[in-house]
Amino acid sequence: MLRYFTAGESHGEALVAFLSGLPAGLKIDQTFLDRDLWRRQQGYGRGGRMKIERDTAHILSGVRHGMTIGSPISIEIANRDWKNWEESLPVSEGDPDKHKRVASPRPGHADLAGALKYNFPEARYVLERASARETTARVALGAIAKLFLRELGIDVLSHVVTTGSVSVSNQVPWEKIRPLYDLPEVLLNCADADAEQRMKEEVDKVLRTGDSVGGVFEVVAHNVPPGLGTYAQWDERLDALLASAVMSLQAVKAVEIGSGVAAAFAPGSQVHDEIGYSATSGFTAFSRAHNNAGGIEGGVSNGEDIRVRGYLKPISTLRRPLQSVDFSTREPVKAAYERSDVCVVPAAGVAAESMVALTLARCALEKFGGDSMIETLRNFMGYCEQLKNY
Ligand SMILES: Cc1cc2nc3c(=O)[nH]c(=O)nc-3n(C[C@H](O)[C@H](O)[C@H](O)COP(=O)(O)O)c2cc1C
Repeated sequence: MLRYFTAGESHGEALVAFLSGLPAGLKIDQTFLDRDLWRRQQGYGRGGRMKIERDTAHILSGVRHGMTIGSPISIEIANRDWKNWEESLPVSEGDPDKHKRVASPRPGHADLAGALKYNFPEARYVLERASARETTARVALGAIAKLFLRELGIDVLSHVVTTGSVSVSNQVPWEKIRPLYDLPEVLLNCADADAEQRMKEEVDKVLRTGDSVGGVFEVVAHNVPPGLGTYAQWDERLDALLASAVMSLQAVKAVEIGSGVAAAFAPGSQVHDEIGYSATSGFTAFSRAHNNAGGIEGGVSNGEDIRVRGYLKPISTLRRPLQSVDFSTREPVKAAYERSDVCVVPAAGVAAESMVALTLARCALEKFGGDSMIETLRNFMGYCEQLKNY
């Protein structure tokens, strides 16, 4: 069973990530991990923090001579900003006068709910962990999951569908999403150059007005074999697992599989993907007229690209802060301001790629098993043969 979790505060010394359950013998490409960490830091509308950090995954265990060895993998990602926080956020008691309080909870953040829950007099400790800096650790783990999936021929990438009021209307094919990965600069990670320019204007507008903007990203998993996940039990359905994984990301407020939202408003004849038998590539000769189901039917992958969309609320921290209440005096004040991004849709897409990759890796390992990559791949190829002969 693939298991993972993360630790670390946003302004602590480092983030730490753990992953266990991968077979031995998977080649680990450090450049690939660091490239995904870099991609998570990009995008038009990011704040000053991204200029301080240049993340790199420091692998501490579970990998030797460039290969997984079946033992738990642990990864450390240093917070370069730590040097500015050592005195205000020490592990030891430290000097209380140097602590940086978050005096008033910021609407849209975990500040108030977290302070009430943990009985903190202010929100510093809450935002330290609730912050999306945590997604850095998930991206490091997700990159390893992607390396595993690549051995099975599966690729996972994302693109931006909406920023503010600007959207790409049609389903974007994999061939247009794939080249985005190689671009040396990430603007809004949109496959349509005209739409991307208009998205940039949306970000410029909120930068000018002290506001923030949300949007929609889509993660696409390409070349996934039919048969991952199952309808046999509610908590083993692939759609449910993916929805939970993507919804767990900070600021994601809705998840859609395929054309799920539009489907609710359309007649069945226009929604369901008619079946043919004329495919010349793929796992079987079964073909589909389109892919409104987003590659999943009955909680099982059906051999089409898996498409998962995440809907992001606008960033909660505003340069023109919203109304709040002072934690000490209970008097009305403007919400506290901490350095912030104004648009994170492309970065959230990269974090969601990681969650999708970890989920698919888990389902693939449940189906194919194996303690070594040779064993896993043998089982996988046997299954592909079975599909061909179906
Ligand atoms: C990649 C990424 C970066 C984020 N950066 C910021 C940020 O700079 N400022 C901010 O207010 N919120 C940011 N957020 C969103 C908050 O972390 C999130 O809204 C907050 O923790 C409350 O959680 P919730 O929106 O899931 O309820 C970011 C989210 C993601 C996915």
